[in-house]
Amino acid sequence: MGSQRLPITQNTESVSRLRCINCGATPASASQDFRCTTCGDLFEFVFAGLPYDARSLHSVWTNRRTSPNPLNQSGVWRFRELLPPISEEHVITLREGNTPLYHLRRCGRSSGVENLYAKHQGMNPTASFKDTGMTVAASSARQAGFRWVACASTGNTSASMAAYAARGDMRSLVLIPEGKTSWGKLSQSLDYGALTCQLRTDFDGCVRILNELVRERPIYLLNSVNPYRIEGQKTAAVELLEQLDWVVPEHIIVPGGNLGNSSAIGKALLEMYELKMIARLPKLSIIQAEGANPFYRCVREFGGAKLEPMTADTLASAIRIGNPASWKKALRVLQATGGEVEQVSEVEIAEAKAEIGAEGIGCEPASAVTLAGLKKLRTQGFVKPGEMVVLVLTGHGLKDSDFTIKFHRGDLFEGTPDERHAVQAKALQRAPVVLDADMGAVIGAVDAADRNS
Ligand code: F0G
Repeated sequence: MGSQRLPITQNTESVSRLRCINCGATPASASQDFRCTTCGDLFEFVFAGLPYDARSLHSVWTNRRTSPNPLNQSGVWRFRELLPPISEEHVITLREGNTPLYHLRRCGRSSGVENLYAKHQGMNPTASFKDTGMTVAASSARQAGFRWVACASTGNTSASMAAYAARGDMRSLVLIPEGKTSWGKLSQSLDYGALTCQLRTDFDGCVRILNELVRERPIYLLNSVNPYRIEGQKTAAVELLEQLDWVVPEHIIVPGGNLGNSSAIGKALLEMYELKMIARLPKLSIIQAEGANPFYRCVREFGGAKLEPMTADTLASAIRIGNPASWKKALRVLQATGGEVEQVSEVEIAEAKAEIGAEGIGCEPASAVTLAGLKKLRTQGFVKPGEMVVLVLTGHGLKDSDFTIKFHRGDLFEGTPDERHAVQAKALQRAPVVLDADMGAVIGAVDAADRNS
């Protein structure tokens, strides 16, 4: 079977067009690997003008909140004026988006920023931010008539894709690195009926195989090089600003892995600014794990001139990525918004996750890099005490309960070079207490805990 062209509608009435981020080519359709056939770079959707002003859009979006229509109940499709056109009959929605914004009082105190919030994208239907992009990209696959969809993943994209494919009556193929995906995420793709292949390689190796595969077979690629994914993920930033009643925070901080999410949020900010929905831009900062920091090095060592792929290693398995596909898009939004890039250590990630958890909010390790990064940006003076900061928490706490249990039992870093740095994390650990079935023993435990608090 040869490669197939994707029928992407681009008439002059359409508000969005496909354009290569490098050479500016505007093809009528994309090849199946979503790479420009002229220069090999990525595509993005660009707007050719909106038939609404900001004020009327706000009220259209607000009114949809009370509607029983599934499209209006979705926190993504509610903002469909900012999305590429997909006919309603093809839309696959699990009522994604609509995620909460929490005030983080205690983390705010510990990081020296009172006005600290978390936009919890882990509260999506499959428990990660991927659903907001997947609803749009999976719908575009269905509209184009594909029977199979596929992705390479560290676990969340695959969980999300498998769910949306199942809802849209499509088959899904998951390529994940063997032994490097949390059980929670793996179990999701099995449960949702995906063909799950655990390849003896890392995430970047899975991407390589998938790119070859989609050139051979009519399989629709659902990684974030697919520009429909980015368009859906944009809505998180629009929803955030709506929740803040269009008061613009000074900073938004996101984790960086394959760099699709930062690109999407940055794109939304720039578009909202252009549409005069916001009067200024928040600074969008990107945080990576020290062991998976190619973008950090790209900016800090090479001034953004090149990205040197690396072999990535971090316990935050969601962002164990050494060759991020969307680095040029992320660089552009970093520069356009005046954001920073930082890296954080394994111990800093674990501590930050425990601090967020102790505030009653579960997130996965990759999400906690945002708080760890904020602390560094605060120490450096890049974030000032009076400023409003929003952390984007990308995945739910139950995604990687192994990490959490090991941390609290005190064996997360056992036998690793981080063991001696982890001593300071002890104060945050809450190991389970095993007792005889005896009330006196339980009272003793309560009293001991009381004395220590
Ligand atoms: N946080 C979580 C929980 C993730 O799952 C990912 C990426 C990221 C952050 C980084 O986002 O790649 O857009 O920069 N997970 C992908 C996956 C790669 O396959 O699930 P990014």
